[in-house]
Formats: sequence, structure tokens, C-alpha cells
Amino acid sequence: MKLIHRLRNSRLRAVARRHSFRAMSDRAAEFAARSVLFCLPGGEAVAVRPIRPDDAGRLQQHFRGLSEQSRHNRFLGAVNELTPREIARLARMDQPGELALVASAADGSGDALVAEAVHVIAPGSMRCEFALSVTDTWQRLGLGALLLRLIECRARLLGARYLFGDVLATNTAMKCLARRRGFLLRTPVTDARLIEIVKDLALPQTGAPCDERFAQLRPIAA
Ligand SMILES: CC(C)(COP(=O)(O)OP(=O)(O)OC[C@H]1O[C@@H](n2cnc3c(N)ncnc32)[C@H](O)[C@@H]1OP(=O)(O)O)[C@@H](O)C(=O)NCCC(=O)NCCS
Repeated sequence: MKLIHRLRNSRLRAVARRHSFRAMSDRAAEFAARSVLFCLPGGEAVAVRPIRPDDAGRLQQHFRGLSEQSRHNRFLGAVNELTPREIARLARMDQPGELALVASAADGSGDALVAEAVHVIAPGSMRCEFALSVTDTWQRLGLGALLLRLIECRARLLGARYLFGDVLATNTAMKCLARRRGFLLRTPVTDARLIEIVKDLALPQTGAPCDERFAQLRPIAA
């Protein structure tokens, strides 16, 4: 199981630690602290922002609230919940080249997370790995596509050449979403249960241009 799924890959953690944390400019910090509101194709409003360390509890609730199937797909195997340490790590993705985004329903009824998306660019690498999940009742509303587009923008602006993810071969939803977003599907030799979805970011971009401030997003200090 890979870092982005369980954060247990010590190699990536070790290289990430060697990078010093760059200070945010005031403008970037202000942008990061603000939730950006999006309207999904059906009219539902969601607020997207970088994760904060104090999101740990909400994030665990989000993972617990996923159906068994969705959790299985998100973590590439049977997982009930993450350990407090894993959750804390996800809620504090504070190294250059890595970020977790969270989306909450922007209806004034509280701050329940309805989706999360994580990406990591290993230092010195051209490859950006990502994973995401959307609460079951919010699936099929365009939220996964939105978060994938935001992650793609980040990866492009940070200079990654390839955006990739490991997906269970049985995960029809993610495979369809990936195809829709221009990813190629490859069968890796290492694990027959998985396929790798890869997008070459050097190919011309389709859709709206990326907001350059996405490159400056950092996790928000609690
Ligand atoms: C995969 C996942 C993120 C998709 O999120 P989502 O918000 O439901 O996706 P969207 O609504 O943006 O769907 C965009 C397109 O993807 C495809 N798609 C999404 N879900 C699908 C499904 N269940 N079956 C077939 N196609 C699907 C469709 O083409 C869809 O467009 P359409 O609704 O106009 O037909 C979501 O199902 C999920 O969280 N699954 C559990 C975790 C997971 O599998 N993560 C991926 C591995 S890390």
C-alpha cells in the first residue's frame, strides 16, 4: 500500500523532511486561508480549502462515514479507519510539493467534510501522485472531477510532468473519471489488483486556465 494511501512509505517521508519549509507571502497566506466556493453542475455549492491540523477529527469522520466499498477503493484495501498518527499526518501535509484539500458543503449547516484530495510530488521528481475520496451521498455530482482538476492545476503549476494515481482495477468510478479527465490507464507489473492512471501534463491543457495562486497554497496553520 502506498504513501498517499496509508502514509507508511518511509522513503518519501524522509526525503520530504529534508526540504525546508518556505514562508508564504502575505497574499498567498490570505488566499490559502479563504475557502474558495464552487458551484457544481447541479447547483450544489461546495467550499474548498487546504486542510488545517484541526481538521483531523473531521477527516477521520469523513473516512469513517464512507461506505465500505468507497473506503476500500480509497485505501486500496480493507481499512476501517486510519490511526491517529496517519490522520494527523494527512491533516498536516506541510512540505513543499504536497497538499491536502478538503471540500465542505457550503450550506451553512456546519463544517462536515464531503470530500478530500491529497497530492505529493516527491522532491526531485517529475511525478505527482494523488488520491481522493467523495462522501457517498455527494458522489456523482461533479465533486471528484472538480477536485481532480484542482490537483491537476497544482501539479502543472508546481512543474510536475506526470500526474498519476494507483487505482483498484475494479474501481469503475475512478477509471471512468480518469478517462474523462484525459488519463491513460496502465497495468503495472507489480500488483495485479491495481492499475496506474497517468496524465502527461506536457500535453495541451483543456478547459479553463489554472489560477496561478493554486501553486502557492500551503496548509493553514491551526
Ligand atoms: C471516484 C470518485 C472520487 C468519483 O467522485 P465523484 O464526485 O462521484 O465523480 P464525479 O461526479 O465528478 O464524476 C465525474 C465523471 O466520472 C465518471 N463516474 C463517476 N462515478 C462513476 C460511476 N460510479 N460509474 C461510472 N462512471 C462514473 C462519470 O463519467 C462522471 O461523469 P457523469 O456523472 O457526468 O457521467 C468517488 O466515486 C469516490 O470517492 N470513490 C471512493 C474513493 C475512490 O475510489 N478514490 C479513488 C482512488 S484514490
